[in-house]
Amino acid sequence: MSLQLREIHKHFGPVRANDGVSIEVEAGELHGLLGENGAGKSTLMKVLSGFHPADSGDVILEGRTLDLGTPDAAVTAGIGMLHQDPLVFLPFTVIDNFLLGSPGRTRVDRKEGARKLREASERYGFTFDPDALARTLSVGERQQLEIARLLWLGARVLILDEPTTGISATQRDKLFEILRRLAADGMIVIFVSHKLEEVEALCDRVTVMRQGTVVGSPELPVPTSDLVEMMFGSVIVEGARPDVAIGRPALTVEKATLEQRLVTVRDLSLTVGAGEILGLAGLEGSGQRALLRACTGLLRPAAGSIAIGGTDTTGLGYHGHKAAGVHYLPAGRLEEGLVEGLTLSEHFELVSGDTSFFVDWDRARDNATDLIGGNFIKGTAESTADALSGGNQQRLLLAMMPDHITVLLMEHPTRGLDIESAEWVWTRLLARRSDGTAIVFASADLDELLRYSDRVAVFFSGRVIDTVDAKTTTPEQLGHLIGGKASGE
Ligand SMILES: Nc1ncnc2c1ncn2[C@@H]1O[C@H](COP(=O)(O)OP(=O)(O)OP(=O)(O)O)[C@@H](O)[C@H]1O
Ligand SMILES: [Mg+2]
Repeated sequence: MSLQLREIHKHFGPVRANDGVSIEVEAGELHGLLGENGAGKSTLMKVLSGFHPADSGDVILEGRTLDLGTPDAAVTAGIGMLHQDPLVFLPFTVIDNFLLGSPGRTRVDRKEGARKLREASERYGFTFDPDALARTLSVGERQQLEIARLLWLGARVLILDEPTTGISATQRDKLFEILRRLAADGMIVIFVSHKLEEVEALCDRVTVMRQGTVVGSPELPVPTSDLVEMMFGSVIVEGARPDVAIGRPALTVEKATLEQRLVTVRDLSLTVGAGEILGLAGLEGSGQRALLRACTGLLRPAAGSIAIGGTDTTGLGYHGHKAAGVHYLPAGRLEEGLVEGLTLSEHFELVSGDTSFFVDWDRARDNATDLIGGNFIKGTAESTADALSGGNQQRLLLAMMPDHITVLLMEHPTRGLDIESAEWVWTRLLARRSDGTAIVFASADLDELLRYSDRVAVFFSGRVIDTVDAKTTTPEQLGHLIGGKASGE
C-alpha cells in the first residue's frame, strides 16, 4: 500500500495555501509534516481527510484515485483525521461514545462494538476503561478513543494535526507508542507538528513545506539545523534573556481554596513580583488552570484572598480583575479568545477600549493593518479570525493585548507556534517585564518553562508540591517533580 498526493492545489481567494503539493508515503511509515505557521500543512491535511475539496490534484491510495470531498468519503476510503482535542459526548460512557460515533451504521451491535474496542485496546495499549464516563478521560485518552473509532471504521491512513499541544509528556510518550504500533501493523501515520524533536523521535521521513509548496522530503535522521533551514530558509539564533530586577508584589494569593470541576486546590499561597515570571508546571488538571482562572476573576475562590498590585480583588468578577490590570490569554484560541466570523479589524476594535458610539471603520482598518504588519500576522484587516492558520490565530491574540498590564496570565502561550514565532513572541513578552508586568504562565513544555521562568511552581493533584529556581533545575528534575516526586527524594 502506498499513498500519493499529486499536484494538490488549494487556494482561498488570493492565498495559495497549497500550490502543487506532491507527497508519497509507504505503508508502515510514520511520516512527519513540518513547516512554519501558515505554510499550508493543515490545509493539505484537510484536503486529504475530505474537509476541503482540492481545486485540482489527485489523492491515490493503493493505486486507486480517490473521490474525496467529504469527511465521510475519506473515512470510507480509509483516511481518518484525529482532531487535536476530540469532542466526546460527556454524559455518556466510553463505549457508548465509541458506538455513537460510527456514522453510516444505523444499527450498532453493542456486543460486537465492545469486542472490537477491547481488541484494539489490547493490541495498541489504550489505557481507558470502556465503562468509565467520557468526561473523566484526559485529552490523551480522548485521542485514543478517537483512534479506536477511526480504526473500527477501517482507517488505514491516520492523520494527526499537532496532536501533542496541550498534553503532558507522559501522554505524548503513550501516544507515540500507539502510533509506532499502528505503523508496525502497516498503517500510514501522518504527523503534523512544530516540535522538531518530536518529529525526529517519531518519524521515518519528513516532508517540509514552505509557502504552500514542498521544500523536501528527507529520510530521517538528518541534522536538526538542516530541517530548520528548510523550514525558514535561515538558521535561527536564540535571543539572550535580559535580567530584570523584581519589584513589589504584583500578584498575591493567600490561603486560597479553588474548586474547579475535577480538582480542588487547597490552601494555596504565592506571590509574584513586578517583572517576575512564574511558570506553572504539572499534569493537565492538577490545579494550574484553576489558579489562572481565579486570578482572572472567572473562578471565585471558595476561601482565601487574591490581590493585584496591592489591591484586594477577591470576589470581583472578570471585569473587576481586568480593571485592576489583569490580562488573560486562554489556551483555546477560537473557543475563548477569538470570535468566529469576526474580521481582524473587528477584533482589534473590540479590544480598543474606544467607547464612542460610532466606530470609524476607516480608522479601524488602518489601525488593524498596522497591528497586522507589526505582529507579522499572515492575513488582512478583512480576514476572519477562523480563516487564519493556527499559529496566526495565536499571534492575533497576542496582538490584542493591552499596553499596560500588571499581571499577565497565559496558558500554553506558544502552543502551535513554529520555533521562529515562539522565539519572537517570548522576546516581546520578556520586554514587558521591564514595564513591571508580572507573568504567570502554564505550559506542558518543560523547556519553555525552564527557559523563560524565574521560578516554576509544580502542581500535583491540587497542591503546589515545590517551587524551583528555573536557572538551576534540569528538565529531568522538573519531569520527576511533575510526576509527584518531591525534590530530594
Ligand atoms: N478557511 C480559510 N479561509 C481563508 N484562508 C485560509 C483558510 N484556511 C487556511 N487559510 C490560509 O491558508 C494558509 C495556510 O494555512 P494553514 O492553516 O494550512 O497553515 P499551517 O501550515 O497549518 O499553519 P499553522 O502551523 O499556523 O497551523 C494561511 O495563509 C491561511 O490564512
Ligand atoms: Mg495548522
